Amino acid sequence: MSALSGKHIILGICGGIAAYKSVSLLRLLVKAGAEVQVVITPAGKQFITPVTLSSLSQKPVVSEFFTANTGEWHSHVDLGLWADCMVIAPATASTIGKMAHGIADNMLVTTYLSAKSQVFVAPAMDLDMMAHPSTIANINLLRSYGNIIIEPESGELASGLVGKGRMEEPEKIAAVLEAYFSKKADLKGRKVLITAGPTHEKIDPVRFIGNYSSGKMGYALAEECASRGAEVTLVSGPVSLSISHPAVRVVKVESAKEMLAACEEAFADSDIAVMCAAVADYAPKEVADRKIKREHSEVPVIELVKNPDIAATLGRSKRQGQRLVGFALETDHELDNAREKLSRKNLDMIVLNSMRDKGAGFGTDTNKVSIIKADGSREDFGLKPKREVAADIVDTILTL
Ligand code: PMT
Repeated sequence: MSALSGKHIILGICGGIAAYKSVSLLRLLVKAGAEVQVVITPAGKQFITPVTLSSLSQKPVVSEFFTANTGEWHSHVDLGLWADCMVIAPATASTIGKMAHGIADNMLVTTYLSAKSQVFVAPAMDLDMMAHPSTIANINLLRSYGNIIIEPESGELASGLVGKGRMEEPEKIAAVLEAYFSKKADLKGRKVLITAGPTHEKIDPVRFIGNYSSGKMGYALAEECASRGAEVTLVSGPVSLSISHPAVRVVKVESAKEMLAACEEAFADSDIAVMCAAVADYAPKEVADRKIKREHSEVPVIELVKNPDIAATLGRSKRQGQRLVGFALETDHELDNAREKLSRKNLDMIVLNSMRDKGAGFGTDTNKVSIIKADGSREDFGLKPKREVAADIVDTILTL
């Protein structure tokens, strides 16, 4: 039986050409046994008729606050309480912007604001709209509110242009919902420590040594663990992301030394630790207390000292039953380097990502990983959104 069977799902449809795919999504959800209430924006109705949608869902489609001829009021509050989840597919730039900023001027956004359950957002728009900083910022805001973004694909768009913006295929969206409902609270009662982002090692008051880590992989892991019932401590280097899941406690740090101190404190009490941060291996020996001036006659030489190895330090104090997971970011001899780190740092498992793989590693929304366990076994995964990579990592940790 499908995990969607008997589930109450609100399907939000906005005005975009991808609305035609919502019909297939609706069919798939209904076929899986879900009860689906369609809420469509006025613009959405220009792309797909309510008659088609109500026939398939066997429920009147909701679009306005009132039914004009009867004066019946449609309660977004009741809908929000009724739903086990809400999925907005396609989500246009306009609706994403309204959702991000609470502009409740239609039934769909009002219902979204009232929804008590998990919300999934499947954006669809032209590539330039998708790449616009305002769209990116709004999607990041939605993510930070705890919504799950079902990333659009790259491919041919309605405009004829080719790029990122095609709504994910209905089968895949249905699979994301299915996975969500079939997921047990398999981390319930577990405490998980996660590190994320870069560290910044001060040179002087205005400069630092750092790297390109955005924190996306580590934050996706924190969200995944929290959504599976864990109590998460996220030790984060300086990033521009935020997270608002009530089960995630964020400890902000700047340098490797600060990250080590926060990790040592949290590790003692943790069942699982995942070291996803890109920790700077070296820090300046001396930090200048004033800005180093260009006008000096000689080019300054910055002497470096080794930073503490956080994963290895935790590996040395690991007690029985604790699971310690590391990452390896490599540019060459990937497997050999990852295996060496796995053993040297006393890890139970290492997640290898290579800078040679397009779409993997720093800054991207996707990653491509191989997971190697201490028993020598290895599994290779394809390129996926970081949230899905996080789910694969957690699934594998649970097999240890
Ligand atoms: O943040 P994103 O932009 O999403 O990018 C994600 C990522 C590329 C940063 C992530 O997927 C990743 O690979 N993180 C580890 C990066 C790294 O520093 O790898 P490494 O091979 O240098 O380190 C090996 C392991 O030791 C890592 O678990 C690291 O956290 C840990 N380490 C390294 C150095 C150090 N001084 N202390 C450590 O604990």
